[in-house]
Amino acid sequence: MSSNPLATSYSPIPQLDLAAQYAVIGAELREAVERVLASQHFILGREGAALEDDIAKLCGVAHGVGTGSGTDALVLALRSCDVGIGDEVILPPFTFVATGSAVSALGAKPVFADIQPTTYNIDPTQIERRITPRTRAIVVVHLYGLPADMDPIMDLARRKNVQVIEDAAQAIGASYKGRRTGALGDVACFSFYPTKNLGACGDAGMIVTNSPERAARLRILRNHGQTEKYVSSEPGWNGRLDEIQAAILRVKLRYLAAWQRARQAHAVEYTRQFSQIPGIMPPLIPEGYDHVFHQYTVRVEERDKLQQLLTEKKIGSSVYYPVPLHLQPLYAPLGHKPGDFPHAEHAAQEVLSLPMYPELRPAQLARVAETISNFVRHQ
Ligand SMILES: Cc1ncc(COP(=O)(O)O)c(C=O)c1O
Repeated sequence: MSSNPLATSYSPIPQLDLAAQYAVIGAELREAVERVLASQHFILGREGAALEDDIAKLCGVAHGVGTGSGTDALVLALRSCDVGIGDEVILPPFTFVATGSAVSALGAKPVFADIQPTTYNIDPTQIERRITPRTRAIVVVHLYGLPADMDPIMDLARRKNVQVIEDAAQAIGASYKGRRTGALGDVACFSFYPTKNLGACGDAGMIVTNSPERAARLRILRNHGQTEKYVSSEPGWNGRLDEIQAAILRVKLRYLAAWQRARQAHAVEYTRQFSQIPGIMPPLIPEGYDHVFHQYTVRVEERDKLQQLLTEKKIGSSVYYPVPLHLQPLYAPLGHKPGDFPHAEHAAQEVLSLPMYPELRPAQLARVAETISNFVRHQ
């Protein structure tokens, strides 16, 4: 503790504080790593298999297939939908670039459909007119930890015979009308990137599905297409989850429900503090949805000025994401221009993600909320 009582009120508040988590569970993590080191079994072993079962159970689906990252999970899931060169895949433009580059990696074309301005997720009414005979799949993203509106999307996909992939990288444990993410589409992808709600100490990911045939094919694809040792039936690569990361994730998984409750309690408090201030739009949670607040993201008109002020006050914040996919240099060849997806573009200019992690203290949260409220009131 500092001897100066005022010092703590001005100490930095990061947007995410993984050190605070490590301070609590470090000994358990080291023990888990030690267990793997003692076994000297590092690839496709008991830890990964146990984690696959645990994550599948958490989602309420039959199969989990561990992968090297969330990006590997997306590419493999697209492969399992037979997406290849010249095919089209529909996805929202307001997401992390990996959602699109996984499609591009297979030589397929991303076809964007705008988001809802209230939830930041793909707008189901924007999808149908983009379906063509070349459409193989729709990738929905459950952005910030809030599920997309899946019922109309699944109805449409069934009618059009198109498969649905959930990019649930940010939404482990979230639910929609009583069902968890991972159980809402045909196949779903998680990222365990260190900053995620369930984060490894390195890269890791997972695919979940109810289909035994798809799970079996995914296991082959993530391991060089090998159906048996040194016999490959189709082109694959190394997309495997390693045992050390799996052991670490199994420790963290035991804490996940408590961490989510803490995140949700922080969100309730932020929203309560912002509720009387017209210039701040807090996250919207539609009836029947359970948001796990990977990010607590507000919208404010003078976003850049606000972020600058927060930086001056040593309060961390992030813009997820400042450039929608259709305006990324990567996708210049698709010929999109500003105005093509107005809700995504508008969101990109106004969103700001605030400090959010289970260990965030009430006094820290109050300081963040007060700083933002004062700024917006005086605009
Ligand atoms: C929405 C989304 N999709 C895909 C990914 C890619 O996951 P990874 O970084 O594990 O490859 C991420 C996270 O990084 C993400 O947030």
